Amino acid sequence: MGELSRLIKMKRLEGQSVLVTGANSGIGESIAKAFAAEGAQVVVNYVANEPEAERVVRKIREKEGVAIALSADISKEDHVKAMFEKMYEEFGTVDILVNNAGIQRDAPFVEMKLEDWQRVMDVNLTGSFLCAREAAREFIRRGVLKNRSISAGKIIFISSVHEIIPWSRHCNYASSKGGITLLMKSIAQELAPLKIRVNSIAPGAIKTPINKSAWSTRETEANLLKLIPWNRVGDPQDIATVAVWLASDESDYVQGTTIFVDGGMTLYPGFATGG
Ligand code: BGC
Repeated sequence: MGELSRLIKMKRLEGQSVLVTGANSGIGESIAKAFAAEGAQVVVNYVANEPEAERVVRKIREKEGVAIALSADISKEDHVKAMFEKMYEEFGTVDILVNNAGIQRDAPFVEMKLEDWQRVMDVNLTGSFLCAREAAREFIRRGVLKNRSISAGKIIFISSVHEIIPWSRHCNYASSKGGITLLMKSIAQELAPLKIRVNSIAPGAIKTPINKSAWSTRETEANLLKLIPWNRVGDPQDIATVAVWLASDESDYVQGTTIFVDGGMTLYPGFATGG
C-alpha cells in the first residue's frame, strides 16, 4: 500500500479519548458515533435518560467502536470532576472534549423566570466552562503525545448561530451562546502556547429534539426554510463531519474560531430579495 492510500485509510482519531457532553440524542449522539467510527474511544455523557445513552453506546459497539455512558450534570462542579475521574479510570486520559450539551427554556423577555435564565446559563455556559477547565488541566498535565496528535488536546464548543443572531423570546439562550464566543476565544488565546486547540461550531437549524416543533410539520418546516438559503433543514451528520475534522490534526492551524454550519442562515436571508 502506498503512503497516500495508507494515510487515506487511517482513522483520523485512532486511539484518542473523547468526551461528548449531552451525547444521548441529537447533535451529540451523531458526533459520538462519528468520532467512534474514526477510531476514538468515546464517553457518552448524559444527565437524564440513561436508556438513550445506553442505546448510543450499543450502536457504537455494534460497529466495533468503543464507548461508555457516564452521567453527570455538567453545571455541577463535583459531577464534572467525578465524570472526568471515571473517564481516566476507563480510558487513561482525555484527548478531545466536545462541549455539546445545551438546553432551551424559552419565554418572552418580561415573562422570563429567573430560574429559566439561570438554568440555561448554568448548563450552556457554566457547564461548558467547567468541562473545558477540567479537560485543559489534563491536557497540560499530560502534554503532547506525538503518536496520537500534534496537539496536547482539543476543545470544541457546540455553539449556535445565536452566538451572533439575536433571538426574540430566547434571550437566555442567545446570551449563553454569545458568552461561549468569548469564553472560547479567551481560552484559545491563553492555551495556544500549550498546544491546546480551542474552537467552536455554530450550527443553524438542525433536525434534533430541541427544535422539533420548528420542523416537524410541513407548515413549520416551510416557515423555517425561509431562513435558510441552502433550502434544507440540517442533519446532525452535517455537524458531526465538521467536528471530526476540527478534532483531527487536519485542522491543526485552526485556533479560536467559530465555524458556522448553517446552510447560510447567518447571511441575512431577508436581504436576498430586498434591502
Ligand atoms: C437552536 C434551535 C434553532 C436553531 C436556529 C439552535 O441553536 O437550539 O432551536 O432552531 O438554533 O435558530
